[in-house]
Amino acid sequence: MENPIIVERKERVVIVTLNRPAARNALNSDIMNAVTSELAPLDRDPDVGCFVLRGSDKAFAAGADIKEMAEKSFSEMYSEDFFAAWDRFAAFRTPKIAAVSGYALGGGCELAMMCDMIFAADNAMFGQPEIKLGVIPGMGGSQRLTRLVGKSKAMDMVLTGRMMDAVEAERCGLVARVIPADQLMDEVLKAAQTIAGYSKIATTAAREAVDRALETSLREGLLFERRLFHSLFATADQKEGMKAFVEKRVADFKGK
Ligand code: HXC
Repeated sequence: MENPIIVERKERVVIVTLNRPAARNALNSDIMNAVTSELAPLDRDPDVGCFVLRGSDKAFAAGADIKEMAEKSFSEMYSEDFFAAWDRFAAFRTPKIAAVSGYALGGGCELAMMCDMIFAADNAMFGQPEIKLGVIPGMGGSQRLTRLVGKSKAMDMVLTGRMMDAVEAERCGLVARVIPADQLMDEVLKAAQTIAGYSKIATTAAREAVDRALETSLREGLLFERRLFHSLFATADQKEGMKAFVEKRVADFKGK
């Protein structure tokens, strides 16, 4: 059986390719287990500074594998807490970029939203079409999409099941950048290398601070940010970063 994912390392960047192109990268348990188990040690590796998650040119991922789940009963879904293991991917602390080309539908859109940011090829199509199957989003679509694009647009996507293209996705804040399809990976890798070149402690803290904005009040969020900022003064990387600025040289961060 072919490996459900391909994991490559380019210096401090790890590129993860979902590898079921013929099934439009429909997310089955094999993919979920491979992503969560193979990336766990890399997430803890101080020499890994950024993850990039991508699919094929045609599909980032067309959602959960409908054929795998179609015949399941409620008690099976509930007792195995179906697809809850994706929470482990969302909880990885290494910055992660979703490079979306083609379809990102249902669980595919939800998986992209679990990443810290989405870079979309100009052929990307996003959607939460679960309603057409008689169900609703189950990996965060009703929650993360609403926080990212607001209630009205989220309702539109979740209730009609329509797709939105990359331009609309950028306009409404789902996507960070839209890039011509043939340049997608170059630009994603450039951003990933940039992030991976910074202090991993600082990038981890930065993403935790931004994520907190989706979880809490402004007052608590501001305090969380300020305390994290203070705590970074305990790191060698803060000393190195500021010293390098004063000495007009490039900082050499160690993640300490
Ligand atoms: C299983 C899938 C699949 C899926 C595509 N395939 N999406 N198999 N689960 N989600 C399979 C097709 O059955 C087909 O298999 C092959 O991939 C190619 O698909 P086509 O439809 O022929 O390709 P195309 O015409 O290019 O259309 C692409 C598509 C369409 C627009 C992405 O496949 C599509 O609408 N897929 C379903 C999208 C969807 O409803 N996603 C939400 C799933 S529910 P064969 O064997 O015929 O070649 C979900 C819930 C998440 O995600 C919550 C979990 C907790």
